[in-house]
Amino acid sequence: MAEIERYLESNSSSLHPALLWLEEQTNLRTSHARMLSGPVVGSFLKTFCELMKPDNVLELGTFTGYSAISIALGLSEGGHLDALEMRDIHRNLIEEGFRRAGVESKISLIFGDAKEIIPKMGKKYDLIYIDANKREYPEYYHLCMDILRPGGYIIADNVLWDGKVYADNPPKDKQTAGILEFNRIVKEDPRVENYILPLRDGLNIIKKL
Ligand SMILES: C[S@@+](CC[C@H](N)C(=O)[O-])C[C@H]1O[C@@H](n2cnc3c(N)ncnc32)[C@H](O)[C@@H]1O
Repeated sequence: MAEIERYLESNSSSLHPALLWLEEQTNLRTSHARMLSGPVVGSFLKTFCELMKPDNVLELGTFTGYSAISIALGLSEGGHLDALEMRDIHRNLIEEGFRRAGVESKISLIFGDAKEIIPKMGKKYDLIYIDANKREYPEYYHLCMDILRPGGYIIADNVLWDGKVYADNPPKDKQTAGILEFNRIVKEDPRVENYILPLRDGLNIIKKL
């Protein structure tokens, strides 16, 4: 653990035990634990929900459920999260985490490709958290804007992409290209107001006007 992370942890309130359990299990049972949104982004999402009090939240990219639990812990009575995840290999881990956090009734877990599912959701959202395939961020954005209510927010994770997007010569890989294109489209879209919060790997906070 980096020194700053140790300091942040020792000077912040303890996380919900379900999140500590999930982080440990994700480390033990998967080889991609670095994909977890983690304590700082998770706590930010929880606070955002506590302040905004959204009725309907959508998540793109659930992995083992860390951000989904964080969001659900911040929801008010009646608030609901639809969590979309492409692969169902971690279904048991996700569902066990939801139960341990006591949020299973607040979340609908939906497996499949977000690009195919979003147009069929048939409802409007107050808040959408994007954390799926970086190559597909521009596509997600167009789809999400159709189902986001005016005054609602999109929060997109990893928009600084380890600093690659602002390097002198950004690498030419598809993930970096996806994030660069996403940030450009958002900046040029007159339907929204946005800023990039340099929290961990960068959150693009986007408000639909
Ligand atoms: C960075 S991880 C998500 C981490 C998660 N938000 C957390 O806090 O632990 C990205 C996830 O997006 C999923 N994914 C990738 N493309 C997707 C798509 N088109 N539709 C739905 N999920 C997708 C991947 O399977 C992966 O589990």
